Amino acid sequence: MLEIGGLLKEGKGKRLYATNDPDTCVVYFKDEAMAFHGLKRGRILGKGEVNNAVCKHIFEMLTEKGVENHFIRQLDARQSLVKRVEIVPFAVKVRNIVAGSLARRIGYPIGTKLDTTVLECVLRSAEDGDDPLVNTTHILAMKLATEEEVNQMLAMARRVNEILVSYMREINIEVIDFKLEFGRYHGKIILADEITPDTARFWDARTHEPLDIDRFRRDLGNVEQAYQEVLHRMMGEE
Ligand code: CDP
Repeated sequence: MLEIGGLLKEGKGKRLYATNDPDTCVVYFKDEAMAFHGLKRGRILGKGEVNNAVCKHIFEMLTEKGVENHFIRQLDARQSLVKRVEIVPFAVKVRNIVAGSLARRIGYPIGTKLDTTVLECVLRSAEDGDDPLVNTTHILAMKLATEEEVNQMLAMARRVNEILVSYMREINIEVIDFKLEFGRYHGKIILADEITPDTARFWDARTHEPLDIDRFRRDLGNVEQAYQEVLHRMMGEE
């Protein structure tokens, strides 16, 4: 019998609880939203349920396609059981179209299609500002991961992108960019964290309107509706 234990960690959009099994933990998806490193806070009604369902859908699809990830099963509307991993202390951003900090860094207009996929490793930063970009030599010098692990993460990020872009195209959503986090599970690198409108930029393919956290960040309105819309399309309820 699964027993949910104490709080391990609380982040922007999720809480993580221990279980009576040292190999698993429970993710609880919150409605709270945060932007600009905590300077803007609010609540997106129903976001927790949408993100839990979106993660289940995407992670199960990735598992089917051979991308190992932390998802085990959904427990209820807001909670899922996942493998308990040691999180690798940098994230990988995958970009197909210019937006956000990349537009600032390279000076290309938002919406510019990139001819080839851009992968960025970033440190988690608590400070206000763009996440510090690091390359493999920084990661090795800081002993954040081995070279083999970095290569595995970058290859997995590319594969996730291929799968996500082609799936989302079918439901008329453009995948602009997203952020992945990985973990070590019994010594092996697996995909962890979440893939949701909180950590990705999803645009409606027809109108190019954001269907993601940018609606909250930029006060674009219809935030709840945008999250629901992503889930509806995934469930074939368009
Ligand atoms: O979104 P922002 O301008 O802060 O940063 P970005 O570098 O343009 O973000 C690229 C992608 O990573 C976007 O889909 C963000 O939503 C996501 N991201 C995230 O999930 N968590 C962060 N702390 C920063 C970015």
